[in-house]
Amino acid sequence: MVQWGDLRREPFRVLFPLAVVFGCAGVGHWLGYALGWRESYSGFYHASLQVGAYMTCFIAGFLMTALPRFAAAQPASNLELGLALGLLGMQAAALWEQRWMLAEGCLAGLLVLLAVFAGRRFAAKPASVAPPTEFVWIPFAILCGLAGSVLLILGQSGIAPSWVIGMARPMVQQGFLLGIILGVAGFMAPRLMGRETLRAATLGVTPGRAQAIRRRRIRLHGLAGLVFLATFWIEGTGAVGPAYLLRAAVFTGEFLWTSQLHRPPAPPDRYVRLLWLSIWLMAAGLWGAGIVPRFRVMMLHLVFLGGFSLMTFAVGTMVVLSHAGEAHRLRQPLWVFRVVEAGLGGALAARVLAELAPTAFFPWLGVAAVCWLAAGLGWLVFILPYVARPLAPDAFERVHEEAKRRLLRPIRVS
Ligand code: HEM
Repeated sequence: MVQWGDLRREPFRVLFPLAVVFGCAGVGHWLGYALGWRESYSGFYHASLQVGAYMTCFIAGFLMTALPRFAAAQPASNLELGLALGLLGMQAAALWEQRWMLAEGCLAGLLVLLAVFAGRRFAAKPASVAPPTEFVWIPFAILCGLAGSVLLILGQSGIAPSWVIGMARPMVQQGFLLGIILGVAGFMAPRLMGRETLRAATLGVTPGRAQAIRRRRIRLHGLAGLVFLATFWIEGTGAVGPAYLLRAAVFTGEFLWTSQLHRPPAPPDRYVRLLWLSIWLMAAGLWGAGIVPRFRVMMLHLVFLGGFSLMTFAVGTMVVLSHAGEAHRLRQPLWVFRVVEAGLGGALAARVLAELAPTAFFPWLGVAAVCWLAAGLGWLVFILPYVARPLAPDAFERVHEEAKRRLLRPIRVS
């Protein structure tokens, strides 16, 4: 059975299962209301739990496991992991009690913790290791989450005008997550999808030229990040359609550029295909919200269910199996992917039907919730035996080196 020390070395072992528990609570909210077990519902409770707890748990689990290995730095300390778990628990309790500002404060605390965690690891990295250029998006993501949380608190307490809430809410509920995805998936997806893997040097590029390419890429990501930030201000002014169209253009443009999204992935592995599909569904949801702003929330669930949930379950399976020394199983048909595909497909269809058949709005939300719960709980049952079993120290080093090699494969940049 895993011990605290194993959890510190690989925080995903506790944070991934916890993410699913939070996801079940956030989605189960609609089932409880549809069945009459709850007298009222709160869209804000649902949205805040899904983003601040369910998705943030996945992100923290991934980054707190991967960053120390990639930067050859110390794993999470007792304080760091303890604080992350404490803030996540306190946030969920505050949301349950509808103490919104306390919950937003906890999320802001978590983001500061993640920023400090990442900053300390990168400061300690060997000089020869340059962070990927796509990571420019991570400060933008944290800025969206942090500034959005603070502005929400100011808006809800009446200090800032109410239009600020209209800007701050999507900054937290979309900007933070999309920014992390643009940074982390923007770097990982081309490698996992088998894009060209030639080293720049082997193509006859001088070190000076490689540096110039790197600086140009950083500038372009930075510029795209500024436009992305501006879309939240535009949404706050009430120009919802243009805001989403611009956000969709930045998101799609980035993935066409970094990952050649228009080309299907080269490896046949199911998780890679699902990762590719999830990026397409996020782009489709953002374009849809821009084209028909009346159906904005429905379109956004293409992003949330088809994008965020599908991506976390697909990439999460890769992380869990790789760290269990069973990466070869990713090439075999796995029952868990069938459950996830059917569950999320059903949830998406029912979520759309809820909007198209407003007389049965809440019953359809209940059906969508049941489908999501089947996918989430199925995934939890699949991963639990792997996350609960620690690796022997020699296997630990080998498995991490393999995972690092797979993800840090150099690719040709232009
Ligand atoms: C099948 C499950 C789901 C159902 C039935 C559902 C239902 C809903 C409904 C009815 C709303 C509107 C709430 C309101 O009145 O304000 C909403 C909003 C929201 N949901 Fe979900 N949802 C589901 C899954 C998810 C997932 C998986 C995520 C995130 C990963 C998510 C994130 C959000 C967010 C962020 C909002 C706020 C959107 C906005 O107003 O900008 N939902 N959801």
